[in-house]
Amino acid sequence: MNKLNLSIVIPTYNERDNISKILEKLESSLKNIKYEVVFVDDNSPDGTSEEIEVFMKKSQNVKLIRRVGRRGLSGAIIEGIFASNASLVGVMDCDLQHDESKLLEMLALFKKNTSLDLVIGSRFTEDGEISHGAFSKVREVASKTITIIIKKLLYINSTDPLSGFFMVKKDSFLAHSKKLQTQGFKVLADFLAVSRHNIDVKEIGYKFKNRVLGESKMSLLTGLELISLVLSQIFGGKVSIKFILFCMVGVSGIFVQLATTGFLYFFVNGFSTSQTVGILVAMTSNYFLNNYITFQERKLKSIALLQGLFSFYLICSLGAFANIAVATYLFSLSSNWLVSSFVGAVFGAVWNFTLSSNFTWKSK
Ligand code: GDD
Ligand code: MN
Repeated sequence: MNKLNLSIVIPTYNERDNISKILEKLESSLKNIKYEVVFVDDNSPDGTSEEIEVFMKKSQNVKLIRRVGRRGLSGAIIEGIFASNASLVGVMDCDLQHDESKLLEMLALFKKNTSLDLVIGSRFTEDGEISHGAFSKVREVASKTITIIIKKLLYINSTDPLSGFFMVKKDSFLAHSKKLQTQGFKVLADFLAVSRHNIDVKEIGYKFKNRVLGESKMSLLTGLELISLVLSQIFGGKVSIKFILFCMVGVSGIFVQLATTGFLYFFVNGFSTSQTVGILVAMTSNYFLNNYITFQERKLKSIALLQGLFSFYLICSLGAFANIAVATYLFSLSSNWLVSSFVGAVFGAVWNFTLSSNFTWKSK
């Protein structure tokens, strides 16, 4: 087999009807190029993997990584790049919103400049744009605002760090891959942040088109993951996206507890009972939020959902004791209530997170 010029990694989740279309488009734009397509499908319920298998029978250059029991765009892209056989890897969505004809221009840039590490397909350069109707007005404004904030906070100077369309030298990507997080939607922003100033980057404008078939997987949840990614980078990548999501849920629990306790105290009376019920309601709402947000890919259902709730109650009660013990000890040493209470809370959060991720939501 001749040496491959390019691998194209395409993450998929419920994209069955787009598979034949994207393969056709790639074939007609990459006429003289030797390329392979590596699909990474998270065992989509709509039969995307089976559809890809049909094309694997016809062409040796179509490959599939089928991930079972896992979800997540960033992790899928990282695994796809690991499995690629060419030294240059293009990453693009399956839904035809990215412009495959730009892959040739990206390749040409790498040919011209051998020290180049990354070319970003950008919606926000002079010749880049977002098609009318591709995004709702809300998402377009949110996308632009978040881009500005992320560039400032993470010292990134790309015009489109949230792009899902780019080409990268495999070795340069691998060199930084250990620091990347698999949870989330924005692997490019993560890569730019961890490789800061050590890579050579160029951009190419493209027109982000409308999605014709299937649905976007972007959600409030992917937004929360993005905020967590930024916070995680601000802490030097030392805390995981998961832990930050867990803490966000924890903070929401404080409000739930205050609201419940307040309501019961004013309308039903009896502080201790109100406070106890408040704590129970907060633990319960934390449990369900963690199940849907923090541990979405290990989501518990039916009877396991109930068992999980009780193990979560148990872990959090022990966490509360640990919190009180640490805080009391520190207070006896320093008499600083704020620091003691804060350290106690951090201790409790780490305890709850570590135990619940190993017991309540242990990975299979
Ligand atoms: N394997 C896998 N697992 N693939 C996924 C998952 C997942 O959990 N979630 C989404 N995908 C795939 C989709 O099937 C699609 O091919 C691609 O990732 C992008 O998902 P969309 O749901 O279409 O995202 P979008 O259009 O809202 O946003 C895209 O474009 C933006 C602009 O470039 C993404 O690429 C964003 O990262 C990007 O900012
Ligand atoms: Mn899309």
